[in-house]
Amino acid sequence: MNKKATGTNLENAFTPTEEVILKRRSVRLYQKKQVPEFMVKRILEAGRFAPSAGNAQPWKFVVIRDEKIISDMTSAVVRLLKLFRAVLDYRRKGFFWLRPLAEIFIRLNRYELHPVPFGAVDLIARGKLGLWHGAPTVILIFKDVRGVGNPDLDCGIAGQNMVLAAHSMGLGTCWVSFAKTAFKYSLKWKRKFGISYPYRFVSSLAVGWPVGKPDGMVPRETHAIDWYENGERITIY
Ligand SMILES: Cc1cc2nc3c(=O)[nH]c(=O)nc-3n(C[C@H](O)[C@H](O)[C@H](O)COP(=O)(O)O)c2cc1C
Repeated sequence: MNKKATGTNLENAFTPTEEVILKRRSVRLYQKKQVPEFMVKRILEAGRFAPSAGNAQPWKFVVIRDEKIISDMTSAVVRLLKLFRAVLDYRRKGFFWLRPLAEIFIRLNRYELHPVPFGAVDLIARGKLGLWHGAPTVILIFKDVRGVGNPDLDCGIAGQNMVLAAHSMGLGTCWVSFAKTAFKYSLKWKRKFGISYPYRFVSSLAVGWPVGKPDGMVPRETHAIDWYENGERITIY
């Protein structure tokens, strides 16, 4: 399917919204040019209008457009990831003996290192992958831990609203959770941004003008979906 849907041919073509959802890609190369302030405010507005459990809106957004803060935070994260790599990355040749320690750490820090991010830790620590990829604007997303239900989920929905709003303006974005390292393992950045209870870092967004045209379809894994109808269960992909 690659045609535009018009209402009459909806079954055979994607709507403009679906096209964006399918073709949006994370951007990891940005122009130096700053994003106009009004666009960032509109992006934040899209986040503010996200649905949330109990309409609790359990989030706090912080915008960073200061090159020095972005580069200082990046250096701080790189330093911490270098340390992680040195003491935990058992996948390197000759370092298999670190595995027991890494496994304890992974257990104690759920959702943080296993399995995919280990590769990225190595790349960021060696300067082969940027933190915010040179984006001139960064939006930090903090959850209000008092939010009912699951504030992480609410923040994720708000973040994706912002991603889609930015995309509709021709901007590129990339979710960047690695910035968490700066908040979890150092007090400096919490102090800098005045973050304390009830706020806790969830993730961040790099926002900027993409270099080139990164959008396009890419293959995605298909997960089996069980479908119950008319007393039967079928599996679709
Ligand atoms: C919550 C979350 C955290 C992410 N953290 C990072 C990150 O720290 N650095 C990065 O380069 N990409 C990060 N990504 C981007 C993913 O790698 C990317 O979304 C995934 O590879 C799929 O590619 P696509 O966004 O182009 O479809 C993150 C994505 C999400 C949703």
